[in-house]
Amino acid sequence: MSKLFAKKQLSVLLSEASDSEKGLKRTLGAGSLIALGIGAIIGAGLFVRTAAAAGQHAGPAVTISFIIAAFGCALAGLCYAEFASMIPIAGSAYTYSYATLGEFIAWIIGWDLVLEYALGAATVAIGWSQYLNKLLTNVFHVTIPYEWCHSPFEISDAGVRGMMNLPSVGILLLLTMLLVRGIQGSAIVNNIIVICKVAIVILFIILGWQFINPANHTPFTIAADAGTVTMHNGQVVDYSNFFNHGWGGVLRGAGVVFFAFIGFDAVSTAAQETVNPKKNMPIGILVSLAICTILYILFSYVLTGIAPYKDFVRAGGEASVAYTIDTYMHGYAWLSTFITVAILAGFSSVILVMLLGQTRVFYSMSNDGLVPPVFAKLHPKYRTPYRSQWMFFVFTTLFAAFVPDSVVGDMTSIGTLFAFVLVCIGVIIMRKNNPDAPRGFKTPWVPILPIVGALACLTMIISLGLENWTRLFVWLGIGFIIYFNYSVKHSKARKMMD
Ligand code: ALA
Repeated sequence: MSKLFAKKQLSVLLSEASDSEKGLKRTLGAGSLIALGIGAIIGAGLFVRTAAAAGQHAGPAVTISFIIAAFGCALAGLCYAEFASMIPIAGSAYTYSYATLGEFIAWIIGWDLVLEYALGAATVAIGWSQYLNKLLTNVFHVTIPYEWCHSPFEISDAGVRGMMNLPSVGILLLLTMLLVRGIQGSAIVNNIIVICKVAIVILFIILGWQFINPANHTPFTIAADAGTVTMHNGQVVDYSNFFNHGWGGVLRGAGVVFFAFIGFDAVSTAAQETVNPKKNMPIGILVSLAICTILYILFSYVLTGIAPYKDFVRAGGEASVAYTIDTYMHGYAWLSTFITVAILAGFSSVILVMLLGQTRVFYSMSNDGLVPPVFAKLHPKYRTPYRSQWMFFVFTTLFAAFVPDSVVGDMTSIGTLFAFVLVCIGVIIMRKNNPDAPRGFKTPWVPILPIVGALACLTMIISLGLENWTRLFVWLGIGFIIYFNYSVKHSKARKMMD
C-alpha cells in the first residue's frame, strides 16, 4: 500500500532537471508573466464556447458564468503557484505531485492532464476548422462540404450527416510536423499573436457596443419555459432541463466557459525563471486572470447583446463571432475577416502549446517508468519526442475528426477541473507533510482558500452533468487499469524502494 505513495526523491528530480534545464535564468518579471498567461488563455474558449454556453445554458447571463469560472481558477491558481515555487524546477502538476504527494496521485494527475492537453488541442482544432470554413466562404466563396468538416454525430439542417472533420486533422498534422522538427516558439511571433488576440477582443467590444439590442439581454437568464430548439448539428436543446435555464444554466455555463481559462497554469510552470516569484507569481496569475475575466465579461455582454442567444444554437452555432458580425453588424465585413484570420493564428498557437505540453508530461512519466519508454524516445536529429508526438497526433485526431466539439470541450473542462481539485487538496496535504520545506510562494489562508477553491471546481464538475462524469470515470478507470497492470511493474520510484 505504501508504495502507492512512493515519492520521487527531490534530489533525483533536481539532478534530472539540471541535465535538461541547465541555464534557466530568472528573467521573467510580472509583465512577462501576465503576457505569457494571456497568450495561453485566450482561444476557442472565448471564440467558440462562449456562444455554446450562452445558447444552450446561460443566455446573456454567461457573463456571470465567466465570473464563477474565474473565481475557481484564481483560487486553484494560487495553489498551483505554491506547488510550482516549492519544487524549484520547470514542470507540471504531475512533477510536483510526484515529489510531494506520491506516485498514485501523480499518476491520476498525469493521466488527467491528457484530457486537458490532448483533448484541449482537439477542441481548439475543431474551432479552427469552423473559422477556416467561414474564411473560405466569406473571402474565397468556397465551402468545405458539410460531411468533410463535421463528425458523424452531427447532422446539418439539410439532413447531411458529417463523416469526419478534415480541416481539424489538417491543422493538427501541420503543427505536429512543426513540433517534431523542434520548432522553438519564437518569442516575437508569440508576442504578435498575443497582441492580435487582445486587439480583436477589444475591437469587437468597442465596435460591437453600438449594435447591442437591449431586448436581447432580457430576460438575463434563460426562462424555464423557453421551449426546445434543434441545434445546427441536429441535437435538441430542452430549456426546461435544470442546467439549461435560470441559475442552474449559469452554473453549467461556468463549467462550459471554464475552458476559456485553461492555460493560465502555464504561468505557474515558469516559477523557476521568475524574478522574485514570491511577489511576481501571484501577480502574474491573478492579473492575467483578472484581465481575461474583464475582457471575457465585456465580450460576452456584447456578443449576447448583438445576437439573440437562440441564434447560437442554430446558424450561429459555428464560428459564432464571425456569424454575429456578418449577420448583425452591417458594413463590418472587414472586421469579420480580420477577426477570423487572427483567430486562426491565435488558435494555432494554443494548439501548439497544448500538443507540446502533452508530450512533455508523458516524457516525464515515461522517464519515471509509468508509461512505456517509447514516449521518451527522442528523434536522433531533432531531439524531440517524435514518436510520442505522432501517437498523440493520432489520439487527438480521432477526437477532432469524429467527435463534436461540445463533447470534447466538456471532457477537457471536466478533466482540468478534476486536476485543479487535486492540486487544491494537495496544497493542504503538503502543508501537513512538509511544513518546513522552503516555498517561494505560499498560498494565503490555507486551508480555507484551497477548500473553497476545490469546492468551486467541484461545483462546476457537478454542473457538467452525468454524461460528463461518466466520461471522466471511464477515463480514470482506463488509467487505473494501465497503472495497476503496467506502471506498478515498471515504476522507478518503486524499484528504489525495493
Ligand atoms: N483557454 C484556451 C482556449 O480557450 C484553452 O482555447
